[in-house]
Amino acid sequence: MNIVILAAGQGKRMHSALPKVLHTLAGKPLLRHVIDAAQALQPTRICIVRGHGGEAVRAAMSELGLTWVVQEQQLGTGHAVLQALPYLDPTRATLILYGDVPLTRAATLQRLREVFVAENSALALLTAQLAQPQGYGRIVRDHAGHVQRIVEEKDATDAERQITEINTGILLADTAALLRWLPTLSNQNVQGEYYLTDIVALAVRDGLQISSTQPQDAWETEGVNSPAQLAALERIHQRNLAAALLDQGVRLCDPARIDVRGELICGQDVAIDANCLFEGRVELADGVEIGPNCVLKDVKVGAGTRIAAFSHLESATIGQQAVIGPYARLRPGTVLGDEVHIGNFVEVKNSSIASQSKANHLAYVGDATVGQRVNIGAGTITCNYDGANKHRTVIEDDVFIGSDTQLVAPVTIHKGATLGAGTTLTKDAAADTLTVSRARQVAVTGWKRPVKPNKASKPESS
Ligand code: UD1
Ligand code: CA
Repeated sequence: MNIVILAAGQGKRMHSALPKVLHTLAGKPLLRHVIDAAQALQPTRICIVRGHGGEAVRAAMSELGLTWVVQEQQLGTGHAVLQALPYLDPTRATLILYGDVPLTRAATLQRLREVFVAENSALALLTAQLAQPQGYGRIVRDHAGHVQRIVEEKDATDAERQITEINTGILLADTAALLRWLPTLSNQNVQGEYYLTDIVALAVRDGLQISSTQPQDAWETEGVNSPAQLAALERIHQRNLAAALLDQGVRLCDPARIDVRGELICGQDVAIDANCLFEGRVELADGVEIGPNCVLKDVKVGAGTRIAAFSHLESATIGQQAVIGPYARLRPGTVLGDEVHIGNFVEVKNSSIASQSKANHLAYVGDATVGQRVNIGAGTITCNYDGANKHRTVIEDDVFIGSDTQLVAPVTIHKGATLGAGTTLTKDAAADTLTVSRARQVAVTGWKRPVKPNKASKPESS
């Protein structure tokens, strides 16, 4: 099978500098959704018709092994398919898809292929019954129910506008027939366009079989023309993804308040609280709990780990039985072992922290290698950046770092060392030793705290 995806439309109603088909749904360009559905059908070739100025579209999908055709002027859907014809295998049928219709199930397209083959058709149409068919081409059938033609809304009579069976636009056609039909299309219609839909009447004229089938759900064939339609389809898609997660046994506190922009893979007994966003590929092992308002992008979380509210995690790997957050920030390159605790307002970047280590409050751990059972006190900062280069901090097993400590990298704190609170560490700390750098405390006896003059006599306004 050949597949042609029409994507030459400018999408003026998006009011955007970005080509319409590059706008994202669930974090993926609209056109990419269509390409993925197309690839699921294992076609011999996918040919994309892009418009003038659509180089950005091509650049965004360059690695996918697609055939790109430019339609310089948008003279209609029939003209668009005509541009692709020279690139198609004439011995195989051609499926027409639309770059701005992102949610068609591959199974629906497969069914269209099955009726096409089973009924030995020259043409198979995907149609739909709509209570409000306004704006769509209508399927005109004879008394026996045979499709006669498609009439566009703008060309339709009042009686034809009463028809509720619409053309979704998606169709499968015999390619040899397309080669005969498309060059003969006329643009003598209200819109002055070459309508692909006119091939239906040509098939009838040629006495060929036309079959049709319908999608399971109306949203499968809804297109995106405006930000409002994009947002509406996004909600439908998210609702579907949430339903699938619930079916697998994932506990969502509210299926309307989760967003998955990528792949979310969950083990058994995973619970996700409200307003979480998952991007890229996220893996949550058995028993993971995600608190409310968390963002996880490209993250792997080990079994039994709890991510508390308002945590932001990106490109991180977390072991089992860890406790992260609330208000934790894990930046790219973070690798945490089992039972690690990362508390509020702790930022970790490009660092590994081995099992049972803790940084529970207010710390920055960047470019560090941290051993097991390390305690990183509140206010500990790795000074990893000298304004030009990044340097590493190495903290070996069983180290205890007191509060408000600066570790000026490159520096190593050897096994079992203790750093006193307030230390600014500029040289390596020896194993099993207390290292402290701070001015000695003094007690000044007889010192009096200053008092404001006339404090009692004159009330001040501040
Ligand atoms: C088309 C169908 C209509 C159907 C509707 C479903 C025709 C003549 N009409 O109407 O029966 O109900 O879709 O949404 O086919 N495109 C190009 N090049 C062009 C024109 C269009 O690539 O020259 C692409 C657009 O980018 C879009 C798709 O084809 O993705 C549909 O074009 P559009 O103008 O929206 O067609 P409709 O008038 O909505
Ligand atoms: Ca349209």
